[in-house]
Amino acid sequence: MNYGQIKQRALVEDQLLSALVELTYRCNLDCYFCYNDLSLKGRALSVEQYKSFFDDLEQMGVMNLILSGGEPLSHPDFFAIGAYARARNFMVRIKSNGHALRGEIARRVADEIDPFMIDTSLHGGIASTHDRQTRVPGSFERLLKNIAEWRSLGLKVKINCTLTRWNEHEVEQIFEIADRLQCQLQIDPEVTPRDDGDIEPLDISPTQEGIRGLYEFQAQRAREFAFEGPAAPQPATIGRQDADLMKAAPAGPTQQRKHCGAGSTGIAIDPFGDVFPCVQWRRSIGNLHERSIIDIWKDRSELDEIRRTTAEAAVLIDGEGDRGQYMSFCPGLAHTRSGDPLKIYDSSRRRGAIILEAYQGLSGASKVESSELADRKSEAGRRLPVL
Ligand SMILES: C[S@@+](CC[C@H](N)C(=O)[O-])C[C@H]1O[C@@H](n2cnc3c(N)ncnc32)[C@H](O)[C@@H]1O
Ligand code: SF4
Repeated sequence: MNYGQIKQRALVEDQLLSALVELTYRCNLDCYFCYNDLSLKGRALSVEQYKSFFDDLEQMGVMNLILSGGEPLSHPDFFAIGAYARARNFMVRIKSNGHALRGEIARRVADEIDPFMIDTSLHGGIASTHDRQTRVPGSFERLLKNIAEWRSLGLKVKINCTLTRWNEHEVEQIFEIADRLQCQLQIDPEVTPRDDGDIEPLDISPTQEGIRGLYEFQAQRAREFAFEGPAAPQPATIGRQDADLMKAAPAGPTQQRKHCGAGSTGIAIDPFGDVFPCVQWRRSIGNLHERSIIDIWKDRSELDEIRRTTAEAAVLIDGEGDRGQYMSFCPGLAHTRSGDPLKIYDSSRRRGAIILEAYQGLSGASKVESSELADRKSEAGRRLPVL
């Protein structure tokens, strides 16, 4: 069974595969659009609590552990927590802004945590755009230097970029940076509200033309490079959600087909122990100060409702026709926006229509192509729809 098949089966059987752990909301940057709710207060989980949580996750058969935040490196016990996660044999990913990850710290990350991947964030193709977002002068230059250092330590790096009104004209430069540094790249066209519902970040949502430009550029790249470059277009994620968890599974013998893995293959945990179906769906299904993850998972009263909703979302999106597969509809985001996880928001429909058009353009060009190019494009066609 390959990993794709494992994920499909896990989705049907509610087998938890991935946990995203927000270690802290502290941060050494100050991004204008940051979705974290900095007013949240609570008792932070202790290192011992993280350790027993990880022990439980291991017992439950979880494979992926994502350390995020805030800035995970700002947690005072980051290394103790990260090294313990690695010792439990999870595939550890570190979602970091990269600002502090250099020199001795970078070397320790490689040696002590040995992450499967560093996921970092780039906010523009030029310094002024990136630094405008982070509100820390010099952060762009420092990030590029740091990424080169991680690469020289043999670390795998994925650059995540959220498309905004500020950076939508710099897509080409962003790809050039990823290519030059031999990193994967994913550009996500959705700016989300803050976790407390504040919609101020949406002020810098990309324009329609910006989104179209991104997908046309990616389609063009697919045609020209046949996905050979390291920054080949990656499947777009649903906002912050792990794209790997978002593929719909066929109906199993006992479970319904689901739109996404929220609360079935994935969960997110905030620094105060609250457990959510996904990082974008801020409806607590329990707290680790009160119950272990094993007990939360066994008590299905909350989870079953989430799972039923994701099954209903699958039917809802089927009703959107061809554009449905490109809409990256997120029930969690719908819940934040309207209180109703099944209310399709406009940006999702618009995105579906724009991407469908861009990809139809890709297949429409086939008549004039050489057979070699047509072969490459069919490879592109197979990979592009995996959203
Ligand atoms: C909250 S950060 C945590 C990890 C780390 N501090 C970083 O910035 O990479 C996770 C990701 O969410 C992105 N992000 C933050 N606020 C966002 C928003 N309102 N809309 C879309 N993406 C956002 C960041 O750029 C980053 O890639
Ligand atoms: S670096 Fe990450 S956590 Fe920090 S402000 Fe920016 S998006 Fe938020």
